[in-house]
Amino acid sequence: MNEPAIFLDRVSVNIGSRTIIEDVSLSIKRGEFWGVIGPNGGGKTTLLRTIIGMVKPNNGKVEIFGMKPQQAVKKGLVGYLPQHIKGIIPLSALDFVRTAGNPKFAEEALETVGLKDKKELPFEKLSGGEKQRTLIAAVLSRNPKVLLLDEPNTGIDVVAQDSFYNLLRNLKNQGITIVMVSHDVGVVTQFVDKVACLNKKLKYSGDPRSALDCNLLEELYGSKVEVLVHHPECTGCHIYRKS
Ligand SMILES: Nc1ncnc2c1ncn2[C@@H]1O[C@H](COP(=O)(O)OP(=O)(O)O)[C@@H](O)[C@H]1O
Ligand SMILES: [Mg+2]
Repeated sequence: MNEPAIFLDRVSVNIGSRTIIEDVSLSIKRGEFWGVIGPNGGGKTTLLRTIIGMVKPNNGKVEIFGMKPQQAVKKGLVGYLPQHIKGIIPLSALDFVRTAGNPKFAEEALETVGLKDKKELPFEKLSGGEKQRTLIAAVLSRNPKVLLLDEPNTGIDVVAQDSFYNLLRNLKNQGITIVMVSHDVGVVTQFVDKVACLNKKLKYSGDPRSALDCNLLEELYGSKVEVLVHHPECTGCHIYRKS
């Protein structure tokens, strides 16, 4: 029972002749909430796909609760929300969760994500944040122990972001291990326990506050990027402009 929820030992992934992930080791404890940040093309989505066993590492080993990823997925321990979901969903929120998730817990899951009152609305009539929460409800209705989210907060406004992060914190408090990829460095680092910064290699892992270090951000995102950083200890923002 003491194995980490997610364990990567010197994992490398090649796609074709390119190395997409190189020598990444990570140990994510049960109940921790991790944010994964890094530039576009840095390998974040590939990392999640490797954790769930959809992508096989060329080197190294991945374990979920001490098991092979496929085994953990088979046991229903892992919930995964991919980055891009295309197409129109011609169902109410509730019917979507009933059909995509576990129908037995569909209502309960929608209540968990704060959409009890909107469950009968057509999915397409929901706001961006509500759609995301409906997708998460479908995943949650299956009662996963590990939740992998690939940029779930894209296109959600600031107010919705807050309730979204509160939802994730509640899930964490129930013991669910969460790994969330985010493009929003400043915001994600305020809410997570630990941060992993990935640009092919793991550039940093640990305390989110140190992840806000200017030099690290520059190394991660290159010198041209502009990063808006909300410091955890004050209400203001700092803009690091690199040009
Ligand atoms: N199935 C694939 N075939 C070819 N290249 C891929 C594939 N998946 C990812 N890549 C490449 O791997 C790199 C990392 O992609 P990805 O993991 O999606 O990064 P991120 O999510 O950080 O933006 C990119 O250069 C991407 O083009
Ligand atoms: Mg991605």
